[in-house]
Amino acid sequence: MSNKKKIIIDCDPGHDDAIALLLASRADNLKILGVTTVAGNSEIEHTVRNARRVLDYAEVFDVPVYKGCNHPMMHNLYRLTGAIIHGEDGLGGPDIPPPVTPIEKEHAVDFIIKTLRESDEKITLIPTGPLTNIAMALIKAPDIKDNIEKIVIMGGAVYTPGNITSAAEFNIYVDPEAAKIVFSSGCNIYLNTLDVSMKAVFYNEDIENLRAQGDKVSVIVAELLDFFASTHLDHFGIKSCPVHDALCVGVLIDDSLIQYERTYLDVSVNDPLTRGETVADLWGITGKETNCFISVKVDRDKFVNMIFDHMKKPYKR
Ligand code: BDR
Ligand code: CA
Repeated sequence: MSNKKKIIIDCDPGHDDAIALLLASRADNLKILGVTTVAGNSEIEHTVRNARRVLDYAEVFDVPVYKGCNHPMMHNLYRLTGAIIHGEDGLGGPDIPPPVTPIEKEHAVDFIIKTLRESDEKITLIPTGPLTNIAMALIKAPDIKDNIEKIVIMGGAVYTPGNITSAAEFNIYVDPEAAKIVFSSGCNIYLNTLDVSMKAVFYNEDIENLRAQGDKVSVIVAELLDFFASTHLDHFGIKSCPVHDALCVGVLIDDSLIQYERTYLDVSVNDPLTRGETVADLWGITGKETNCFISVKVDRDKFVNMIFDHMKKPYKR
């Protein structure tokens, strides 16, 4: 039995999803069993292709990529993609060549279920997009819960405003019904919210230092950050660049990266003004059992250095 943590990354690349994949591929303590994709930052045909071409670019040919749900559980994607932030194909900016490795035929949800059922060790799920695939897997096969070590999610905002509405963060807003299912599943959930991801930012100087490392993966990550930083400046007026999704991988590499507190959390689905909001019972007024850990503090410098150190490493199977 290997002492690497087994993980499945469920993502919608997306610049920060792509960096999460690259970070995981360079982590000595993680074994990526597969990458599953979902509609979110862009349509599914784009997100699945982006996952594959990023991995191929970084010479990670042996990690399989699966196509998942093409729209949220209760509605169509109806232009609710992250195109304004990530570009029309979800990965604007660098010219990453087309994929050479084929996409797997099996559906992402079936891969997640089969892999969890067949594994002799518990597996950590890392969803960095809308929670559609994970909720569908939990509905189709509730027994898989027993083999989930934890679910480390990028999503939500508790102490800070949202980034798609004032109440909601993008991933949860795109599929709030799915998020509600996941939070009420009884799984061991760690939620990395905007509260920490908007603090673990890259400044222009960090991006230049990364580029200066000179290897092909560091350079492409710097180019991804150039684009992401420019859309954050145009759209949100901020002069720094978050890398939200990569924190979910980072905390599995070094658990001192993020501090959490345990709470009961639910997702607003019915009110148009707050739809997609992650509402935490911080003062315990509901009397409900806690159901997740929410992020409260992050070590930005540790994260930036972790990205520097890992991107220059070659991929080892
Ligand atoms: C989340 O939304 C997406 O745009 C990013 O990839 C990240 O997962 C941040 O709100
Ligand atoms: Ca994402």
